[in-house]
Amino acid sequence: MNKLFDITGRTVVMTGATGVLGSCISKYLASEGAIMIVMGRNREHGEALAKEITDAGGQALFLACDVLDRPSLEKCRDEILNRYGRIDVLINAAGGNMPGATIPTDKTFFDMSADDFKKVVDLNLHGTVVPTQVFAEDMAKRGNGVIVNFSSESALRPLTRVVGYTSAKAAVQQFTKYMAVEMATKFGEGIRVNAIAPGFFLTEQNRTLLTNPDGSLTARGNAIVAHTPFGRFGTPDELCGTIHYLISDASKFVSGTVAVVDGAFDCFCL
Ligand SMILES: NC(=O)c1ccc[n+]([C@@H]2O[C@H](COP(=O)([O-])OP(=O)(O)OC[C@H]3O[C@@H](n4cnc5c(N)ncnc54)[C@H](O)[C@@H]3O)[C@@H](O)[C@H]2O)c1
Repeated sequence: MNKLFDITGRTVVMTGATGVLGSCISKYLASEGAIMIVMGRNREHGEALAKEITDAGGQALFLACDVLDRPSLEKCRDEILNRYGRIDVLINAAGGNMPGATIPTDKTFFDMSADDFKKVVDLNLHGTVVPTQVFAEDMAKRGNGVIVNFSSESALRPLTRVVGYTSAKAAVQQFTKYMAVEMATKFGEGIRVNAIAPGFFLTEQNRTLLTNPDGSLTARGNAIVAHTPFGRFGTPDELCGTIHYLISDASKFVSGTVAVVDGAFDCFCL
């Protein structure tokens, strides 16, 4: 049997696991044999997700955490280490945009709330940095582990209106590259750090920007689809294969990269 993509028994800690993309990816990785530690703020959603995974024959544990609350993360880490003895993979998926940091079409940057800008940077950047400090220390001690951060199309091209989100995700990409070098040079090649940059997937964070209440596309939604050579948004399951590759030995010599999954949006010019 080909072992390159074998993730059986690997402990995968995923923040933002109860979100639209996170829950799809969690279910997929569990179906491939990973032990999923699904983390999120909403206990009801998290426990339902863990139950769905275990009912389907997989292994999962829900732990409540806020990625900006270090003590809550440390409590989760201690519980994971007590229960499983190690953390093999960290997927930093918690993140998203916020309406207050989005500039309406009839306003400019000067109308934007600096506090809301800061909140988006806190969630996406610090919400990646802090869990990495808490969960990757175990990897550093063992010289083995994989981290995947969630970037975005908006880090590759600064999309109009979402200035806070764009800035934060660009920082996540640079943090990814910094950490790839930091981990390899100080703790060995067994620790790899990469990012995934999804294009456009209809989820809670962008629903009001891309669709009207009746489900039809907004002008922005139409413009995005028109600029996507595949002519559509992505579906969450279309991220699973890339994540699987990044966390498995199939990508053993890959670190510091950003995997773009966007139906060719980024390379389309005219
Ligand atoms: N949907 C897209 O088109 C798209 C595109 C590019 C990147 N992304 C990124 O993908 C990731 C997943 O987003 P999604 O689209 O599934 O959105 P989503 O809103 O469904 O999920 C985001 C998750 O993050 C969690 N979260 C938010 N703040 C948190 C906090 N302080 N502590 C812990 N958890 C917190 C939410 O509860 C939710 O479970 C995000 O990082 C997002 O920025 C999404």
